[in-house]
Formats: sequence, structure tokens, C-alpha cells
Amino acid sequence: MTLFKAIWGVLFVGAYLCFVATPWTLSVRPPLTTERHEGGIEIPSFGLGTWLSDREKVAHAVEFALNSGYNHVDAALIYRNEDETGKGIEAAKLPRDKLWVTSKLWNADHRAKEATIAVQKSIKDLGVGYLDLYLMHWPVAFIPGEGTKIDESTSIVDTWRAMENIARSGLARKIGISNFSKRDVQKIMDSCQICPYAHEFETHPYLQQQEFVDWHKEIGVKVIAYSPLANTNPTYKDKQRLDPILEDPLWIDLAGKKNATVAQAVLAWGLQRDTIVIPKSVHEEYILENIGAVDIKFTKEEMEEIAVHDKKTRMNDPGRGWGIKLFADLDDPTQLDGDEEDEL
Ligand SMILES: NC(=O)c1ccc[n+]([C@@H]2O[C@H](COP(=O)([O-])OP(=O)(O)OC[C@H]3O[C@@H](n4cnc5c(N)ncnc54)[C@H](OP(=O)(O)O)[C@@H]3O)[C@@H](O)[C@H]2O)c1
Repeated sequence: MTLFKAIWGVLFVGAYLCFVATPWTLSVRPPLTTERHEGGIEIPSFGLGTWLSDREKVAHAVEFALNSGYNHVDAALIYRNEDETGKGIEAAKLPRDKLWVTSKLWNADHRAKEATIAVQKSIKDLGVGYLDLYLMHWPVAFIPGEGTKIDESTSIVDTWRAMENIARSGLARKIGISNFSKRDVQKIMDSCQICPYAHEFETHPYLQQQEFVDWHKEIGVKVIAYSPLANTNPTYKDKQRLDPILEDPLWIDLAGKKNATVAQAVLAWGLQRDTIVIPKSVHEEYILENIGAVDIKFTKEEMEEIAVHDKKTRMNDPGRGWGIKLFADLDDPTQLDGDEEDEL
């Protein structure tokens, strides 16, 4: 009789935990695991991108994502939608210390005075009080008010000093870099008093840069993978000759084996190689679909097969338009004799 009662007890508690106490519906996941460390959470491995998110749609996309298990938003002043992104953040009502918000210093704001004004504007527009991460968007300074004219008098090390002061003042918990060559990362590492927490750059199955990713692990800088869906961003349509990754037979096959969509499989690969992925979408179904990537794992053999299919093709390179050779020591650097481009 006692055994009978014990079995019923276990079944009852199990059923309660499964059907009553579980606070998440099938489409709403618990926030992704984040480690605590002194001063707040570490960067969550999955975030929502906002570049080219329509001003009319981004607030809803951000609110929906944050209420569906996302806790990380990637923003930038130059995306010209941080105020709308901030409305979404506010509507989602996540406790501030459970949310990760990144913004970026634009090229025209590299001088110390402009940098302070810029970070304060991003914080105000995003309505967050402070940023979790502030990135130097590009290793390129423009003369304020003169378009894309290069400011030869402001070096990346000068700007890093301004970034360090932003961190010291508490306006950003962490500071980092974006779109740097290896040489430029090294320059910052050699001179930093507060060193970069993360480097955000383009990497995906068609531009894997595995050595560069591994090197960041060695030097203790986290990698945030932008454009993690490779050439899915429509801005990249005319920039290269590759077929869309979402129609790539290799990825259709891999996704089929995992009972996943291609987008989920591609993002899962990014997570498995220890990069932080920040896919952008303004559609509820994609936002939910993409975060499903966290459940997918590849075998060692599958990872090796994906590595063989690296196309070493960069999608986002404004260097020609700015007259600057970017990514000089990386795969697919800027070719300075090309057409003008206007990516961010
Ligand atoms: N630091 C930098 O210089 C830099 C540069 C580029 C990007 N970024 C950051 O990285 C984020 C992501 O990169 P990205 O926006 O270039 O490209 P992405 O996230 O790789 O791709 C975005 C595109 O994919 C579509 N999409 C998303 N999920 C999909 C799915 N499951 N199935 C089919 N299509 C899907 C989106 O459509 P819809 O939006 O129409 O839903 C959008 O057109 C940016 O938003 C930005 O925050 C940073």
C-alpha cells in the first residue's frame, strides 16, 4: 500500500511540473541561460539583430522577441531606429539586469566629445539607462559633419581611449570592437587599459574565418557573428554570385537530418562553434523559428563537412565606398578598385 502511494505521489508531482507549473507555452521559451559575473549577466549567446528593421515594425519585433525567450538586442545609432527599438524594450518589461543591449559608436563620432554625446543619445533612445556593450562600429573615423571624409587625425587607439572612458563612467558595462582586421585587434590589445569584451564581425558558413574565431578565444575576446544567415539579408542579393544559403542542398540535407529548418541549422552551427548569433527579423514566425536553433547539435563529422564548404565570401564591405582597405589580413578583403557601396 505504501509503495502504491509512493508511485502515485511521484506521478502526481511529475504531472504537476509538466502541465501546471511549467510557465512557458510551446512557442514561448525560458530566457536563454546566462552566466552571472560581477556586475551583471554575460552576453547571451542568441540575440535579435535590428539593422534594416523598418521603423514601423521594429518595436513590435523587439517586444515579441523579448517575450518569447530572447534577452539580447543588437542595436546601433546608425540603424536610425534605436528610438523605436527602445519602445519595444520598454513594452516587453524585462527586468533591466536580465536584458542585454548592445549599441555602436558611429564613424563620425570617434572623437572623445562626439563619442560621449553619441553614447548618451543611444542610451536615451533605447531607454535603458546604460548599455551592456558598446562597440566601435568600424575601425574608421569620419570627420564630423563631412560625410565619409576620413579623419586622419583620430586613430583607433585614440577612439579606444574614449571607449574606455565610456566604460569607466558606467555608461556601458562592457566595450568592444566591430569589423576590425587582426592587425587592428592586436593594436587595441597592445594598448588597452580596459580591453575589448567582444568583437562583432561577419561570419557564417560562407565566411567561416575559423582561425580568426579561434584566435579570439585565445586572447579572451568573445565573437559576435553578424549576418549569421549569410546571404539571406536582401541587401546582399546583388553583391555576390552565391545561391541563397536557405536553398543550399548541403544545408537542406543537414537541416532535414535534424528535423529543423535551414535557418535553424545554420544558426545552430554558429552557436556550436561558440559564436554569439544575432539574426535579424521583423516577422514573428522567423523570430520564433530562429531561436529553435538552440536545441540542435551537429556531429564532429557534420562540423567537418560544413568546414569544407566554406566559400570565403564576404557580404558586407563598405571599404570601397570609403576608399579604405578593410579586413586586410582576413578572407575576402576590400578590393579598392570596385564600385561604391553603402552598407553599414
Ligand atoms: N557590426 C556591424 O557592422 C553589423 C553589420 C551587419 C549586421 N549587424 C548586426 O547583425 C544583425 C544580423 O545580420 P543581418 O541583419 O545582416 O542578417 P541576418 O540576420 O543574417 O539575416 C536577416 C534577413 O534574414 C531574414 N530572415 C530571418 N530569419 C529568417 C528565417 N528563419 N527564414 C527566412 N528568412 C529569415 C530576415 O527577414 P525579415 O527581417 O524580413 O523577417 C532578414 O531579411 C543585424 O541586424 C545587425 O544587428 C552588425
